[in-house]
Amino acid sequence: MLAPQGVTMSDAIESLLKENRRFEPPAEFAKEARVTSREAYEALYRESVDDPDTFWRRESEALVFRTPWTKTLEWNLPHARWFLGATLNVSESCLDRHLSTPVANKTALLWEGENGDTRKLTYAELHRQTVLLASALKQLGIEKGDRVAIYMGMIPEVAVAMLACARIGAVHTVVFGGFSADALRDRIQDSQAKLVITQDGASRRGQIVPLKNTVDRALEQPEAKSATKTIVFRHFGSERCTVDMKEGRDLWWDDVLASVTTECAPEVVDAEHPLFILYTSGSTGKPKGVLHTSAGYLVGAHVTTKYVFDLRDSDIYWCTADVGWVTGHSYLVYGPLSNGATCFMYEGAPNYPDWGRFWSMVERHKITILYTAPTAIRACMRQGDAWPAKHDLSSLRLLGTVGEPINPEAWIWYHHTIGRGRCPIVDTWWQTETGSIMLTTLPGAAASKPGSTGLPLFGVVLDVVTPKGEAVGPNEGGLLVLRKPWPSMARTLWGDDERFRQSYFNTIEGCYFTGDGARRDEDGYMWVVGRIDDVLNVAGHRIGTAELESALVSHPAVAEAAAVGRPDDLKGTALVVFVSLRPGFSADQALRDQLGEHVAKEIGRFARPDVIRFADSLPKTRSGKIMRRLLKDVAAGRESTGDTSTLEDFGVLAKLRQDED
Ligand code: PRX
Repeated sequence: MLAPQGVTMSDAIESLLKENRRFEPPAEFAKEARVTSREAYEALYRESVDDPDTFWRRESEALVFRTPWTKTLEWNLPHARWFLGATLNVSESCLDRHLSTPVANKTALLWEGENGDTRKLTYAELHRQTVLLASALKQLGIEKGDRVAIYMGMIPEVAVAMLACARIGAVHTVVFGGFSADALRDRIQDSQAKLVITQDGASRRGQIVPLKNTVDRALEQPEAKSATKTIVFRHFGSERCTVDMKEGRDLWWDDVLASVTTECAPEVVDAEHPLFILYTSGSTGKPKGVLHTSAGYLVGAHVTTKYVFDLRDSDIYWCTADVGWVTGHSYLVYGPLSNGATCFMYEGAPNYPDWGRFWSMVERHKITILYTAPTAIRACMRQGDAWPAKHDLSSLRLLGTVGEPINPEAWIWYHHTIGRGRCPIVDTWWQTETGSIMLTTLPGAAASKPGSTGLPLFGVVLDVVTPKGEAVGPNEGGLLVLRKPWPSMARTLWGDDERFRQSYFNTIEGCYFTGDGARRDEDGYMWVVGRIDDVLNVAGHRIGTAELESALVSHPAVAEAAAVGRPDDLKGTALVVFVSLRPGFSADQALRDQLGEHVAKEIGRFARPDVIRFADSLPKTRSGKIMRRLLKDVAAGRESTGDTSTLEDFGVLAKLRQDED
């Protein structure tokens, strides 16, 4: 049976099975909530599945469609087309629609830099900046359907850049600022991006991360030759961050905006026009370019933001995710802006200058909704209660978590120490490919259970099945699949439709396979235990073992490499790699450091292994496949209980155990 990286399915399920606490929605919250009871949720859910047309039409009423759709769904597995016949421009729903309402002068983005600087952009200002940049992109020759790479940090201009692309029908591909030049180059090459939008540098722990220099190193390489222009936002200025501007290629953001001569009407596109590509790791090969299209994605992000966060006009909403990941796309930009929310955005590290930073910002900006990752919660929890205790957190009314399973201890800490027992917690399960939240307990409507991701959201029809596709009973573990298409689902993998089919629709017939293992309890609540394919979730970052291994074997010293996960109290999963060396290289600390650096260069610093272990050889089956299951046991310091009869040489395993650090 497939098992999550680092833990066996039975271990993970065992520990979650013991968890049976329930937290009813606080009465004060439930009274005012959008959905006030489980019955009300079930009625809406049933409608979304039985009569999707009525449901989605009503729930997307606030969005701007230039022409309404004539058909809700066309499903030709694995290809879904939603809202056929509709035309729209996503930026109109996020910006223009607010201009004739009081929201025009409401703060759209409230930003704080690591050094304490703050900025505010109203909806009207965000619209203005977006229109200017969109016009500039057009003047530079970017046309509908062209790809634009965005390599920026957490500043308001990253939202401007995304929305400007959407406005002219260009397809953005945001590359997380922690990726290396080589990783950026690969994404530019795969998407054939014509232009890169970047900034001089970004703040991190008091240092400046020189983003533009990294872009230079990516663009120097012939593989990235499709990108012939860059637009550079000056975040620091030349005294603090010097950049080389290449004549004819690099343009300053301010100059480009100043030279705009025409207004930019939104380009009206078809419902299925591509909105963005976001690269994510898969279980094999190079990163996958997940493609999301306009209407379905927008509707998914809009409706889930409104219901899951129970959004009110007065909320100050903070999603801590970096915009380089899907959470930043859906819940920092498209979901909240299409709802007219005020979004807080922070550029910097959570512990800078100290572990009180998050809580000080909650207090100072009167944040009402906080959406973050279990890794961040665990890291804060480890620092003790004194940090949050110093701050007035009474503005908070709702807490959210995403990205990895949350252990009940961290959930309880979040509930008591941050939420002070007053705030419901929404544990939201979803993926880059799903585009929007699929599972959670709607706050106010249903009790939360620490560690459970709750119930399916609107239009989500899921199941837990055996590898043969048979549904399992309550509390039995199995594979998490989605049985029906949903509006914000990925439409394909950029340039590789066959891989799209292979990756998601080949495991369980007729279903989308998530790659996760789960169980459903007697109450219908889902308990997601984590990846059961060769993808690791390290501190909420998705890392493909194949990608990491190919980065390692590209180093001259490495003959073979295998990457596995090991349970970790802080990161959820720690990254352990086993490496065998080519003759002539010695297994020492200097080489370990070099290999760590090499991975940082190939992928990014966040993918550096936690542990590198040298091995004479790796355990293999007689047919030559590396036995990862055994390596996982070795990494976790556990005896292997499973079948080892196909192991070629027992000596290899014994030797690895002997060499344990
Ligand atoms: O394993 C699941 C885990 O994160 C994976 C998706 O990663 P990514 O595409 O990077 O998107 C992360 C943010 C949406 C899933 O396959 N995951 C995500 N949320 C949860 C989770 N695991 C458990 N509980 C969650 N709430």
